[in-house]
Amino acid sequence: MFGDPPDPSQPTLAPVPGATEQQGLEAGSTIWLWAALGLGTGLVLLMAGVRRLVLGRHWNGPNPFAEDARRPPRPLVTDQEARSGVLKQALSDTPVPERLDAVVIGSGIGGLAVAAILAKAGKRVLVLEQHIKAGGCCHTFGRDDLEFDTGIHYVGQLKKGSFCRVFLDQITEGQLDWAYLGSPIDIMVLEGPSGRRQFPMYSGEKAFVQGLKEKFPDEEAAIDKYMKMVKVAKGTLHMVLLKILPLPVVKLLDKLGVLAFFSPFLRAATQSLGEVLSQLPASQDLKAVLSYIYPTYGAIPKNASFSMHALLINHLLDGAFYPRGGSSEIAFHIIPVIQQAGGAVLTRATVKSVLLDSTGRACGVRVKKDRGLVSIFSPIVISNAGIFHTYEHLLPERARCLPGIQTQLRMVQHGPSALCVFICLRGSKKSLGLEANNCYLYFDSDTDQAMERYLSLSRDKAVAHIPYFFITSASAKDPTWKIRFPDQSTLIMMLPARYEWFEEWQDEPPGKRGSDYEALKNSFIDASISVLMKLHPQLEGKVHNVSVGTPLSHQSFLAAPHGENYGIDHNLNRLQPHVMASMRAQSPIPNLYLTGQDVFTCGFLGALHGALLCSSTILQRNVHLDLLRLQSRISAVLPKRMN
Ligand SMILES: Cc1cc2nc3c(=O)[nH]c(=O)nc-3n(C[C@H](O)[C@H](O)[C@H](O)COP(=O)(O)OP(=O)(O)OC[C@H]3O[C@@H](n4cnc5c(N)ncnc54)[C@H](O)[C@@H]3O)c2cc1C
Ligand SMILES: *[C@@H]1O[C@H](CO)[C@@H](O)[C@H](O)[C@H]1NC(C)=O
Ligand SMILES: *[C@@H]1O[C@H](CO)[C@@H](O)[C@H](O)[C@H]1NC(C)=O
Repeated sequence: MFGDPPDPSQPTLAPVPGATEQQGLEAGSTIWLWAALGLGTGLVLLMAGVRRLVLGRHWNGPNPFAEDARRPPRPLVTDQEARSGVLKQALSDTPVPERLDAVVIGSGIGGLAVAAILAKAGKRVLVLEQHIKAGGCCHTFGRDDLEFDTGIHYVGQLKKGSFCRVFLDQITEGQLDWAYLGSPIDIMVLEGPSGRRQFPMYSGEKAFVQGLKEKFPDEEAAIDKYMKMVKVAKGTLHMVLLKILPLPVVKLLDKLGVLAFFSPFLRAATQSLGEVLSQLPASQDLKAVLSYIYPTYGAIPKNASFSMHALLINHLLDGAFYPRGGSSEIAFHIIPVIQQAGGAVLTRATVKSVLLDSTGRACGVRVKKDRGLVSIFSPIVISNAGIFHTYEHLLPERARCLPGIQTQLRMVQHGPSALCVFICLRGSKKSLGLEANNCYLYFDSDTDQAMERYLSLSRDKAVAHIPYFFITSASAKDPTWKIRFPDQSTLIMMLPARYEWFEEWQDEPPGKRGSDYEALKNSFIDASISVLMKLHPQLEGKVHNVSVGTPLSHQSFLAAPHGENYGIDHNLNRLQPHVMASMRAQSPIPNLYLTGQDVFTCGFLGALHGALLCSSTILQRNVHLDLLRLQSRISAVLPKRMN
């Protein structure tokens, strides 16, 4: 979830005469970005020789994006057996490829994407997934013959020809399509003593701003000021630089104030969303509306860095997309690319530890197979399992205590968790009046206070004070739904929840957690359904089945140690330049790399960027630049005005 890099086909390098100060600023930071990307690559290459000596094996890999890999799309595969043949290849039933170039722990988008990039550079990569199917947050599951998403509800910045769309097209060979979700993208609903008010968030900057101004005619100046500040997100890629320039250089530039001087994005990282809104100044209601999207990164306004917030607003400003055919399509089309190079993606394969050789370098993994443990050796180990899980559980004791590891662990905290209510409905999208847009339902305009009070309560009391619901319907978004599941629909309601409320059952297997656990789950289901029926009375009598996923479900399906939604916490500290710079793909252990959301930011695109950083580090080349070059070649032949 971050801005597109500058479009190289658009000459934006010099401020246009008559450009506003903001445009000038952006153009200035674009020059800086390009200069620094060049400098960064130069420095990285210069350091490569030294690093090879210090950190072990590296490739000077070929360009994974030398050729446009898209093929004409084939029809959607709906046969469940055929899908399982790709998504559920169990370690115990499948031969492990020999002479591996790399092994990846975890098949989230961060793991699959890095494996696919390496495969496109000719490497043989094995991805090991602990769950029964591949995909991590992109996996789907069935209830009552219907399908539910786990962690992909909408994604921005995927217009045809955009940087991330080109990237995804390449690692799926053009087989994954994205449905545009229309406008408004989201509706924020504020239920208060004076009734219900709705705030649509329209697609397109002009419509978005106009929508806000219509609701707050007395606060037009504050809205304009806010939008101007959101523009700092254009510099999101400055975060990439923090991670590719040598760490001592970044630390020095940070100390000298050079980073904050040149990058409005990095400057905004030091201010909280709450602070910015107070300085506008904005009324309490406008504050709540402008911060409506905080659940997507999970830090409340007073704890969230303004740059993280700006990144999300900017991310959705030009419309949102949903994977055509459901989110399992993502893994379904990336896996064959990994296989073509001799690699594999194997499930039911829990990695128990990273193997280190006598010099302390990673050289493989110990993985659970049937009832025993087997060792799989590989010159490179990549972890998609997140910083906490990798460093605290997968590294052997002696490596866990290394100062480099401990320093990084001290910089971060576990992110928040949530509870998801999965609802099966009888009736089509049309007959039930369901829409593709998401609803963010709040009950209090003091967002910080409502959330802090809720989280401070015991689990039995909390259920009466749920501060928000995120309500979304995949069946209303996917154009193939009506063919796949005629006359049926689904809804997901997501609400915040503390891991500690469920912790006492963490060692019990799912389905066997006893009646108190079931009663707790049911209390959240009842609270959710009663809210839903007030909001959508037309759904009364249409609910066919309801189930719920708790933080313990995230723990078992995603191996998230505290049931986190989005990996490490996206608080103010996380976005500080020196912290961002320290969390890089190269871990302090030679030959061990990290990919996914903890390397960049949360979100589908954030985890994808983690994979780009990781593959750049491993291949010793700037894969961002490789992609930018391909993007400009593709966009040169793309018809104008395509979605
Ligand atoms: C409820 C929810 C809703 C979301 N909605 C959106 C949205 O609408 N849009 C958006 O852009 N983002 C959304 N996100 C965020 C986004 O899905 C994630 O940030 C992103 O997909 C994370 O990708 P990842 O590859 O870093 O990690 P994950 O997808 O978490 O993948 C990690 C993988 O590693 C595996 N693993 C861990 N440990 C081991 C081990 N020891 N051995 C083997 N395998 C292991 C896990 O099982 C998992 O498959 C949502 C997230 C959640 C939880
Ligand atoms: C609801 O779903 C559960 C789990 O899939 C299933 O066991 C149960 O039979 C379903 N109930 C109804 C009423 O369909
Ligand atoms: C906000 O940040 C403070 C200080 O780090 C922390 O104690 C508190 O738990 C955070 N609140 C939420 C809701 O995350």
